[in-house]
Amino acid sequence: MAAEEENDVVELEESITKEKTTKKKKISISKTQDDLMVFLAGIKGISEVMKKRLHKVLGSQGITDPRGIKTHTLKQLMELPGVSENTAKLLLEEVESNQGKLFLSLDEREQIEVKRKKIMTGSLELDELIGGGIPTGTFVELYGSPQSGKTQICYTISANCLLPKEFGGLEAGVIWLDTEGSFNTQRLKQIISYYEYTHGIKNVKTNRFMVANTRTLAQVELALKEAGSIIPKNRVKLMIIDSLMDPFRAEYGGLGELAVRQKHLNKLLHMLMRLAEAYDIAVVYTNQVMANPDPFATAMDKVMPTGGFILGHASDIRIWLRRATSKIRNQHDAPNARRALITDCGWLPQNECHFSLGPFGVCDVDQEANHIKLAGELGVLFESVSEGEETEAKTEFATLD
Ligand SMILES: Nc1ncnc2c1ncn2[C@@H]1O[C@H](COP(=O)(O)OP(=O)(O)OP(=O)(O)O)[C@@H](O)[C@H]1O
Ligand SMILES: [Mg+2]
Repeated sequence: MAAEEENDVVELEESITKEKTTKKKKISISKTQDDLMVFLAGIKGISEVMKKRLHKVLGSQGITDPRGIKTHTLKQLMELPGVSENTAKLLLEEVESNQGKLFLSLDEREQIEVKRKKIMTGSLELDELIGGGIPTGTFVELYGSPQSGKTQICYTISANCLLPKEFGGLEAGVIWLDTEGSFNTQRLKQIISYYEYTHGIKNVKTNRFMVANTRTLAQVELALKEAGSIIPKNRVKLMIIDSLMDPFRAEYGGLGELAVRQKHLNKLLHMLMRLAEAYDIAVVYTNQVMANPDPFATAMDKVMPTGGFILGHASDIRIWLRRATSKIRNQHDAPNARRALITDCGWLPQNECHFSLGPFGVCDVDQEANHIKLAGELGVLFESVSEGEETEAKTEFATLD
């Protein structure tokens, strides 16, 4: 081959390789075009350079989805590096206009509420009490004395949220903030195994479950920030905080600090509200009880949940959990029967129901004996968790495995 021809071939080969790499590059750019990039591209009034910078800055805050912008206030957005008031306003306006109309008719609003998914509790009676399960987009407070069943409800709704849709689950992710260090991996796996066994499900996708050890308020806030990127990735529909007030009680003591504590609680609840609204998540938190200082309190008000009015206003459904009376326990052969009373809800009456805590989590009272029998038969499969055995969750989010 002549030298000239040889040069041409080399040039051609080079140009083909160049074209290939450019094509490759183009493909890889379009592949990385996430929802946030597409969203930013559609905003008028922000330069292209600024959009690229915004993508990076928002990403560093765990915002990988336009809905994540809604979890920030105008002030919080303005605190991000290089984000002016005008840019922050444009971002929020665009996010709101993407969500559709601000005002809705009664029928339109009803359509949204009907579409809300419901998480089953494991007990048909308890589901019925709260209108068919725990609806996404709501704040549910479970309060009661130790062993009243708060954490067991959290385990069972977590398992039900992970279950495939054809088995009544949401096939969605769960985020669990463990503020008391009491989360037990084996207990959740035991309940999941029960559903796998009874429904014949091969594998429940447990990798959508994430737990973080958040013993301090700083860790809770950090976890909520990190949750912003986990929620869209794992399609999270349930967030559990067990328990909400524990870190507040540990970090703020005495009446002198009450006002500051309540201000802090309010701030945290608003962070949660923005997450719940932006991603349509059910937020379920447990709470302890304290003696009511009011000397004229009725029998029903003798104990009250901690957290004061701030928490009371935030909770959409407040449920008081107690041990069932001996009459109910004997009548149903259910020594572990519990009572659940709705003490405050804007759309549900103050009704009560009974449920049980069995080897497979929450169940109906008439099922407790059956569950114990089944657990005995399948003893090896559902090896009981020895008392006090705890699996520490990591400070950062960790999967079940
Ligand atoms: N493996 C199991 N098999 C059967 N029942 C269990 C099992 N594990 C827990 N329970 C039941 O759950 C009860 C504890 O309930 P739970 O953990 O929900 O308490 P809690 O309300 O969260 O209390 P605390 O305020 O101490 O956290 C036990 O007393 C027992 O009745
Ligand atoms: Mg508990």
